[in-house]
Amino acid sequence: MKLLVINGPNLNMLGVREPEIYGKSTYADLVGMIEAHAAEKGVDVHCFQSNHEGAIVDEIQAALGVYDGIVINPAAYTHTSVAILDALKAVAIPTVEVHISDVNAREEFRRRSFVSAVALKTIAGHGFDGYIEAMDLLLCPLQK
Ligand code: DQA
Repeated sequence: MKLLVINGPNLNMLGVREPEIYGKSTYADLVGMIEAHAAEKGVDVHCFQSNHEGAIVDEIQAALGVYDGIVINPAAYTHTSVAILDALKAVAIPTVEVHISDVNAREEFRRRSFVSAVALKTIAGHGFDGYIEAMDLLLCPLQK
């Protein structure tokens, strides 16, 4: 069983970027937490981060036939990217959308998510724990 965790633009800046919103932990801390949880659950996980929309589309396309589930925080592309939505639709891999912050309680433009149209669930405002919840959500039906 293999999970792919995708993080979009500026999430490599976690720990530095707006710590009052995203916290003080770094992207490396996030990856460490995800990998530790995957090891505990006995699943393979690959974490991918890019600041480029096309690179994220390429990674989603390459996931076909390789990964059983995708956890994605598309970051700012959440609110703009039909290309990422279409890539997720194309591969039809079960996907859970995660946002560290509560996007619905922030600016109006953060309330629209293209990815939500294909996500099994959107988890927002749970900080880094949202990624763990998303992984568990994907693992439950897959493990049955
Ligand atoms: C985010 C929320 C987005 O609106 C923002 O552009 C991000 C991070 C989050 O994790 O809360 O970069 O996806």
